[in-house]
Amino acid sequence: MTETLNAEKLKEALQGLPLGRIYFFEETDSTNEQGLEIAARGAEELTLLVAERQTAGRGRLGRKWVTAPGASLAFSLILKPSKAEISHLSLFSLLGGLAVCRAIENYAQIATQVKWPNDVLLNGMKTAGILAESCWQGEQLAGVVMGIGINLLPGSAPPAGEVLYPATCLQDHTPVKVERLSFLRAVLAQLIVLRQQIMDENFIQEYTRRLAFVNQPVTLNSGQGDSWSGVVLGVQADGQLRLRLADGTEASFPIGELRLRPEG
Ligand code: ATP
Ligand code: BTN
Repeated sequence: MTETLNAEKLKEALQGLPLGRIYFFEETDSTNEQGLEIAARGAEELTLLVAERQTAGRGRLGRKWVTAPGASLAFSLILKPSKAEISHLSLFSLLGGLAVCRAIENYAQIATQVKWPNDVLLNGMKTAGILAESCWQGEQLAGVVMGIGINLLPGSAPPAGEVLYPATCLQDHTPVKVERLSFLRAVLAQLIVLRQQIMDENFIQEYTRRLAFVNQPVTLNSGQGDSWSGVVLGVQADGQLRLRLADGTEASFPIGELRLRPEG
């Protein structure tokens, strides 16, 4: 039987975490959309928005994200970066993926990988996606809305025909009973701790340890018809992906709108 979420259960499960206001939606368009609106009005640090259903859940460039009520987790956390953090803003895109990896590893004792920049893979299949969007008001950054969608229970991963990359859910990879609220707590706790380490060398090292397709050929597509092929070498301190191109030169690619695919 699937456990439904509600505001009380959510607050109880997250007790003790240093969160701001917690919003729960039975149904909303997208927790990122709502988060951007709340951030623009002036949100508390670590305001959390959780939805059971999203009618317009999104990935990058307006692509669709599928949330299965009762089986997925869909939430957004509003972070208000300090001046020092703003100079490392690109790393915020990696933070969510790494926090989900750590949470899965601790919860289920299984290995995870990140498909650059921030898709979480289990056994080569996508189990979580992260969409970090900034809310700018002129020159001022009102907040970063870190949206996280995770396939946890059976029925949450869309079938092959509906996604452009094979998808899976956590429960299919572990005998440990996955429970949505305790898993949400685990991810948020990791995010809060990891954020404090975002400017340390260890942060990128830890990310790189989980980087998928190292030494393997991949293609990056821009979505506007441009593409680059090469072998993955790693990531730079600012999160850019390093590739060895066919002509033997090295090139780095910024986190943004590039989509990565393994070759073959
Ligand atoms: P991709 O996941 O195709 O590599 P990406 O990392 O750029 O692309 P986005 O395009 O931002 O990610 O994410 C949306 C994509 O994720 C959709 O195009 C769809 O193929 C896929 N998707 C949607 N819902 C899910 C889900 N619940 N689980 C796994 N993948 C999903
Ligand atoms: C991706 O795969 O690249 C990003 C997917 C992000 C999905 C989450 S679900 C919660 C939040 N609300 C959204 O509309 N998107 C993010």
